[in-house]
Amino acid sequence: AYVVTDGCIRCKYMDCVSVCPVDCFYAGENMLVINPDECIDCGVCEPECPAEAILPDTDPRAAEWVALNADYAAKWPNIAEKGEAPADADEWKGKEGKLALLDP
Ligand code: SF4
Ligand code: F3S
Repeated sequence: AYVVTDGCIRCKYMDCVSVCPVDCFYAGENMLVINPDECIDCGVCEPECPAEAILPDTDPRAAEWVALNADYAAKWPNIAEKGEAPADADEWKGKEGKLALLDP
């Protein structure tokens, strides 16, 4: 499966939602996650994310986000349509270590 990393936090552009063929994104207040049981590994979302927040779970940088995606996919509502990104999304793009800013 693919996973969303903390690069998404406070960016939440949602371009990924528009392209996912199986609608397996789930939305928290300021981050999305991917349901690993529904993701079909098509990979189309990865290059669509302006924040480069999506990685295949085979990438070493994805390892620490695998459990978080599975956990929140079970708690947050499904999102099938792109909404409006936060007004200050661009200011958070590329910032590292955003996990402490997650609003679950
Ligand atoms: Fe959806 Fe494909 Fe991305 Fe998985 S890899 S989340 S199926 S777009
Ligand atoms: Fe997040 Fe990137 Fe999607 S910022 S909402 S993973 S397009």
